[in-house]
Amino acid sequence: MKNLEVIAITFIGQILQQALATDWYFLEYNPASGENFTSFSGDMAAPTLPSAATYYLWPGLQPTDNSGVYQNVLDGRSGTWWFGSGWCCSDPTLAWGGGFNVADGATVTFSNVQQSNGSWTSTITDPTTGDSATNNFALEGKDFNQAIFAIELDGPSWDFGTLAYSNVVITSSGTDSSWCTDTPTNYDDATVYSISGVSSTVGSDEVTCTIESLVLESPA
Ligand SMILES: *[C@@H]1O[C@H](CO)[C@@H](O)[C@H](O)[C@H]1NC(C)=O
Ligand SMILES: *[C@@H]1O[C@H](CO)[C@@H](O)[C@H](O)[C@H]1NC(C)=O
Repeated sequence: MKNLEVIAITFIGQILQQALATDWYFLEYNPASGENFTSFSGDMAAPTLPSAATYYLWPGLQPTDNSGVYQNVLDGRSGTWWFGSGWCCSDPTLAWGGGFNVADGATVTFSNVQQSNGSWTSTITDPTTGDSATNNFALEGKDFNQAIFAIELDGPSWDFGTLAYSNVVITSSGTDSSWCTDTPTNYDDATVYSISGVSSTVGSDEVTCTIESLVLESPA
């Protein structure tokens, strides 16, 4: 005979796990071993936000030690998109940068640039409204080797249509540009995506990767 209490607890546990599970969809670029990303910028079209829920749509960089993520996040929790840049979440603990509300359908820009002293400066803008925020983050000593285009969902499903990036430029140190023209890693093969207009140039210890269009189309 089964113990009903155990069944009930197992059932509640499953519900909690479902409620707390984060759904991830992301594409990731990695430079050649030993190379570091030195900047990441582009345009991002805000989809129509279906409801107030934990929709986090973000381009971001992660360091070799995976100690956190330096990101520019379209946040749907309030029911209106809010766009801000920062370092999540500790090691080091840094204040989140400034941000602003974004209308459905607006195209915003992000630019993350490593400074000569090793810190990083984020500039985010909404060219339609003129809103912008610039913040410097003390991320000296971190070597960023993961450039990520993520959809992070705590509760809702991917029900907002496409997430489209354009005019993306990523630079790395080094001279091996294969990371740019190779297809990115598609986490868990979870995402249908399209990429076009990819080109790279190599300078003295610098690779510049240009991606005219990168669209996360739908769940696979
Ligand atoms: C990556 O960055 C670290 C320090 O931030 C530096 O020591 C190293 O030389 C860099 N690698 C390359 C290939 O530039
Ligand atoms: C590093 O440079 C940035 C940009 O010039 C500046 O905002 C920041 O304060 C500097 N950090 C330190 C520790 O001096």
